[in-house]
Amino acid sequence: MSTIISSKDVHLSYGNFEALHGITMDFKQNELTALLGPSGCGKSTFLRCINRMNDDIANVEITGKIKFEDQNIYSPKTDLVWLRKEVGMVFQQPTPFPFSVYNNIAYGLKLAGIKDKELIDQRVEESLKQAAIWREIKDDLNKNAQSFSGGQQQRICIARALAVHPKVVLLDEPTSALDPISSSEIEETLLNLKNDFTFIMVTHNLQQASRISDMTAFFMNGDLVEYGTTSDMFMKPQKQITSDYLNGRFG
Ligand SMILES: Nc1ncnc2c1ncn2[C@@H]1O[C@H](COP(=O)(O)OP(=O)(O)OP(=O)(O)O)[C@@H](O)[C@H]1O
Ligand SMILES: [Mg+2]
Repeated sequence: MSTIISSKDVHLSYGNFEALHGITMDFKQNELTALLGPSGCGKSTFLRCINRMNDDIANVEITGKIKFEDQNIYSPKTDLVWLRKEVGMVFQQPTPFPFSVYNNIAYGLKLAGIKDKELIDQRVEESLKQAAIWREIKDDLNKNAQSFSGGQQQRICIARALAVHPKVVLLDEPTSALDPISSSEIEETLLNLKNDFTFIMVTHNLQQASRISDMTAFFMNGDLVEYGTTSDMFMKPQKQITSDYLNGRFG
């Protein structure tokens, strides 16, 4: 499979604190990669580099190169609206906007320039089906999205991310605020979708990573320590420290 995102020697500093010390890794199309590592190691920081979400933070300096397909995303020519349509994001806390389910999903479509009502209707249904929540809420599309349960809200957010037909979806601990049943529903959803999208997911849940990811990356203190297929990483990691982390010997 071909490489869709390629990161080369990415360093990121918040003021004079360097949080990423040169991250080089490639992501293949239609694979699900888990980013693992102890709190504060730079997982979210790196994830946000991939669709330039760190641009909005003051005093951030980034060097190195990230390519999405053939485009250097840090080139001044990059259109951020385009980039974030191609590389969507789902956060830890479900973050639906305080309006109807329908308008939550239509919002991103309108931003992407889609005005045709029929096409919007079709995308709303398609994306809610992909996020495995259509059956539960199809009669409540006009209800405020924030009135649903946490797990339902997170699936609405996944639908919102998918509706614009991104190629890559970044997920930052998408299930850590959810109960076990909702978490497993999200996992199931991602498993069903992973042949159609490229997912890059931060998680602290090692079992979750081993259940659903194809590739696993282990970060520590701003470095990528080890990266490989999930089965190799869990069964025969190259480094003792990776083995210790993946076996839960430290967190
Ligand atoms: N906006 C910011 N300003 C300054 N420092 C920051 C900022 N965001 C993160 N950091 C620092 O950068 C380092 C990496 O943080 P990051 O949030 O990427 O870690 P993480 O691996 O996602 O951790 P967690 O698992 O707790 O979410 C930490 O030392 C953190 O304190
Ligand atoms: Mg984080």
